[in-house]
Amino acid sequence: MSKLVVTGGSRLRGRVRAGGRKNSAVAILPAALLADGLSIIENVPVIQDVSIYCDILRSLGVGVDLVPGNGAEGPRAIVDPSRLAWQALPQELITRLRASYYLLGVLLAKYGRAEVPFPGGCDIGSRPIDQHIKGFTALGARVKVEHGVVKAEATRLVGAPVYLDVVSVGATINIMLAATLATGTTVIENAAKEPHVVDLANYLNAAGAKVKGAGTDIIRITGVDRLSGVTHSLIPDEIEAATYMIAAVATGGDVVVENVIPKHLESVSAKLVETGATVVENGDSINVIGNGRPRPVTVKTLAYPGFPTDAQQQMTALLSVASGTSIITETVFEGRFKHVDELKRMGADVTVEGRTATVQGVDHLTGAAVKATDLRAGAALIIAGLTAEGETEITDIEHIERGYERAVEKLSSIGAGLRRKD
Ligand code: UD1
Repeated sequence: MSKLVVTGGSRLRGRVRAGGRKNSAVAILPAALLADGLSIIENVPVIQDVSIYCDILRSLGVGVDLVPGNGAEGPRAIVDPSRLAWQALPQELITRLRASYYLLGVLLAKYGRAEVPFPGGCDIGSRPIDQHIKGFTALGARVKVEHGVVKAEATRLVGAPVYLDVVSVGATINIMLAATLATGTTVIENAAKEPHVVDLANYLNAAGAKVKGAGTDIIRITGVDRLSGVTHSLIPDEIEAATYMIAAVATGGDVVVENVIPKHLESVSAKLVETGATVVENGDSINVIGNGRPRPVTVKTLAYPGFPTDAQQQMTALLSVASGTSIITETVFEGRFKHVDELKRMGADVTVEGRTATVQGVDHLTGAAVKATDLRAGAALIIAGLTAEGETEITDIEHIERGYERAVEKLSSIGAGLRRKD
């Protein structure tokens, strides 16, 4: 079983580049199936979730070439849906990631019929998909769940108003995908405003769709007859960037994170400044300097533009060595505190009650054998290991590889004591 071994004590220094956004990639790769022609998705992150998605698309007859980056160009995916054929999806691959549920919206739009096994992804709460189903039903689909498979069918999808009861990124994207080729106009109210919702809208509009209002809480999609293939460059991954930023502060380092949109990171930057760090935005890069022991802060996760739940676990690691008591409230996923038991093995003093963690900062953590229970828990443990005395061995690192591009290489390049042990 492969492990990551983290040696604590180094200050991170230097420049590191964030890749393309995972959550954009896993929405835009399936969206490319809606087009008649070939799409080129640039700045694709080199991560497991992307390779798995490409394998799922290939199982449907889609041509997918993942072209590695070179000095001049980043990695890209060339998606040719001309041989796409409706067929049963590979259950084992579908259940390895969350975003496989976007095939519901895509296949429903394209064929009027979709059968997708319940998706997988991080175990961070119950993660229902009732709002996705509500949206498809509003557009005229009949949806049922049988033997763990979501089955949706529609003779014709017709645009309709959809009010989301909870702000859901997944439901917003899935309804956008289904509505793109429907007859008439769909209006999603209480839509998610995350930048990757906007990224998807930009891809769809470039391909010929009519999507207005993405980035606000009302999105209008007027269906069109067809989409063409286009070239689209993904926005940077703000959570990868946030992870490096938090790691820089935790180690008292001085790191420039390149290829970022600083506006997408405002809530994280503001919180790091509250802990006493210096954060300087400079065009498409951000310089983060840790200034000694972090001060305790209050963190509440919220939908964008609030503090992202995807950076909460890394922040818990940082605050576990702060100079006082921090309160972290997780409002998005009720089960997103599995990293806490692992941090406690390293000497952290954290109490969880319901959706709130009280983090009493300790002087230092100590290296221990820990388990990456999910993707961002893994990132939190790397950060904790970097601050700890001695060595930390992290198991179950496949979670980390699902969403972090060349983590060992990138973090080592800025001075992290990190190696993979196979
Ligand atoms: C996406 C992201 C994930 C991020 C999350 C919140 C992808 C692939 N994943 O996950 O990294 O942590 O947004 O920013 O983009 N909910 C319902 N019913 C539904 C759908 C969601 O009750 O039908 C609830 C969820 O349980 C959760 C909240 O709504 O409490 C937000 O979930 P959602 O935004 O849908 O998250 P995902 O799309 O799964």
